Amino acid sequence: MNLKMSKITAAITAVGGYVPETKLTNAELEKMVDTNDEWIRTRTGISERRILKGEGKATSDLAVPAIQEILRKKNLDPKEIDCIICATVTPDMLFPSTANIISDKVGATNAFSYDILAACSGFLFALTTGATLIESGRYKKVIVVGADKMSSIVDYTDRTTCIIFGDGGGAVLLEPSTDENGILDSILRSDGSGRNFLHMKGGGSLNPASVETVLAKQHFIFQDGQPVFKFAVKGMADVSAELLERNQLTGDDIAWLVPHQANLRIIDATANRMGLSKDKVMINIQKYGNTTAGTLPLCLWDWEKQLKKGDNIVLAAFGGGFTWGATLVKWAYDTE
Ligand code: UT7
Repeated sequence: MNLKMSKITAAITAVGGYVPETKLTNAELEKMVDTNDEWIRTRTGISERRILKGEGKATSDLAVPAIQEILRKKNLDPKEIDCIICATVTPDMLFPSTANIISDKVGATNAFSYDILAACSGFLFALTTGATLIESGRYKKVIVVGADKMSSIVDYTDRTTCIIFGDGGGAVLLEPSTDENGILDSILRSDGSGRNFLHMKGGGSLNPASVETVLAKQHFIFQDGQPVFKFAVKGMADVSAELLERNQLTGDDIAWLVPHQANLRIIDATANRMGLSKDKVMINIQKYGNTTAGTLPLCLWDWEKQLKKGDNIVLAAFGGGFTWGATLVKWAYDTE
């Protein structure tokens, strides 16, 4: 009998995604605020974004179709799911967690579920957390979902933020693997002093909702774009380069960079620092904008067919907090 225990890694074994049908184009934004298509495209890379419309529709309604796609693809009974972790900054309500609502809507009655709030790095933080549940050997099927209805916290009279954000969500299924495919390494960081540059003032225990907070527009995103830009370029590029170095990899060993879609110029800077050519970088910012926790799984969803078993991919993100990080994944499957 071989008593040698093989290490369990958490493999991504399925991907699902969802974006609402309604598009908000740069041309439409030109009619709402003092901006223009050329400025938006050259400064951010965005042409259009998706908006979740409809009475009673919330972030869970972006997450549920993404998870249902996974259930269909894997022919999985939702009762088999052990845990659902939802990364979001736009929960359906402050409590219960959006993950609780999602589990109810998908019928994951045996799962425990909770939210992670790490803004644009939320999916990466949740992925690492989910992976450790699998690596512990105690859980076999963990769903990690990143979804945001950013349109619910965007001020459509503020041209510095309304051009950036969109709605969408994506999910992955994590399962144990013993063939060394899966989540291999992560570097995650946070620095709360960055809160001054990117936050939403109202609605929490500091500034509970009141007539005054509404009139002062405190229930919308506030962003001081330039400092965030500078921190993002440095943060995302630094951890991505560090991750390669400590795994003795170079850009040549990486099949794909999966970057947070906040600004094409931040993505380019990260790819350059890693020594990666543009054709190895997943970019869908032009059609979805910045969906916060949704960007990384939506990239995996869009590129799933091009990912090959054994590919080394690096997921990298930067967001409010500040939070940032990079994760190395060896892709676990080929898509038919
Ligand atoms: O995902 C979470 C993390 N967030 C990020 O990573 C976002 C990081 N920041 C950014 O991506 C960029 O800072 C923005 C896209 C938000 C802004 O781009 P920028 O190149 O940093 O522009 P800026 O703030 O330096 O503004 C340049 C000019 C200003 O005019 P003046 O002062 O030079 O006359 C702005 O008033 O562009 C003006 N401007 C606009 N013009 C047309 C700002 N917003 C707009 C607009 N349309 N929408």
